[in-house]
Amino acid sequence: MPQSANPLLRGTSQLSSNVHARGRDFVLYQGDSIALMNGFDPGTFDLIFADPPYFLSNGGFTCQGGKRVPVAKGKWDTSQGIEEDHRFTTEWLAACKRVLKPSGTIWVSGTQHVIFNAGFAMQQLGFKLLNTVTWFKPNASPNLSCRYFTHSTEILIWASPGGKGKLQHTFNYAAMKQTNGGKQMRDVWAIPKAGEEELRDDGEGRVWSMLTPRKSEKAHGGHPTQKPIALLNRIIEASAGEDAVVLDPFCGSGTTGVAAVGKGCRFVGMDLNPEYLELTRKRLEATQRP
Ligand SMILES: C[S@@+](CC[C@H](N)C(=O)[O-])C[C@H]1O[C@@H](n2cnc3c(N)ncnc32)[C@H](O)[C@@H]1O
Repeated sequence: MPQSANPLLRGTSQLSSNVHARGRDFVLYQGDSIALMNGFDPGTFDLIFADPPYFLSNGGFTCQGGKRVPVAKGKWDTSQGIEEDHRFTTEWLAACKRVLKPSGTIWVSGTQHVIFNAGFAMQQLGFKLLNTVTWFKPNASPNLSCRYFTHSTEILIWASPGGKGKLQHTFNYAAMKQTNGGKQMRDVWAIPKAGEEELRDDGEGRVWSMLTPRKSEKAHGGHPTQKPIALLNRIIEASAGEDAVVLDPFCGSGTTGVAAVGKGCRFVGMDLNPEYLELTRKRLEATQRP
């Protein structure tokens, strides 16, 4: 393939100076993802997974290993106030919409701290909302204040860039049904505990229980908000076509990339932090391709 035809290499000369690392099937860019996405041609990507700042690190406390610890994921995770947070969310979602193919889809993950903000921005921008998947975390930290229920879920909004007429997006319906023991897969996902790989029957189809990342997933180092590979495997299996070009504008430790290249897709990752991109590079280089 000539270099200019390879969507992984396409971009402005300014983008090339942001390349942190590249391989046969991935490119990692360092910088602000809004500026970086704006350097790509419209309609470049088949699939986007975005795990943005949740604006969680605001002086609260959580429980880790039985101890009370401050929630401090990083400066990037602090709220700038509701108006500014919404402006940022709207801006990166608009950049995603521009670089998504009309046949592509986007997944946005979040907790109550950001997901309503993201959902509202997506409606304002004219995305077509396809599903809101609830990911259940059976090993969630206990609630210290005892003034709320234990937070044990995250929401994933799945959407297409919209437009009228026939739905064009990829949904690997049959594969999902087969994975789910022959029943239509539902929008509540829970994935097996370590050593308990079997699906458990909930009477009406099957609920999978998906934990937070296992130790082996942090073999090259950890990220404070790393997603479990099982979650991203499910997303790629459900919504990537063969040879899809997948973008993660908030790449972190590169979980999306590991799932994407592990299933034969190509991957573009972006992050502000070069240390996280380095972690991503190591994980990608250790990933087995089909
Ligand atoms: C929630 S974490 C993503 C974690 C990732 N899904 C994983 O599995 O490791 C969000 C990431 O976005 C990065 N980030 C925050 N603001 C950014 C921006 N404006 N542009 C690019 N990256 C940004 C942070 O450095 C952080 O690594």
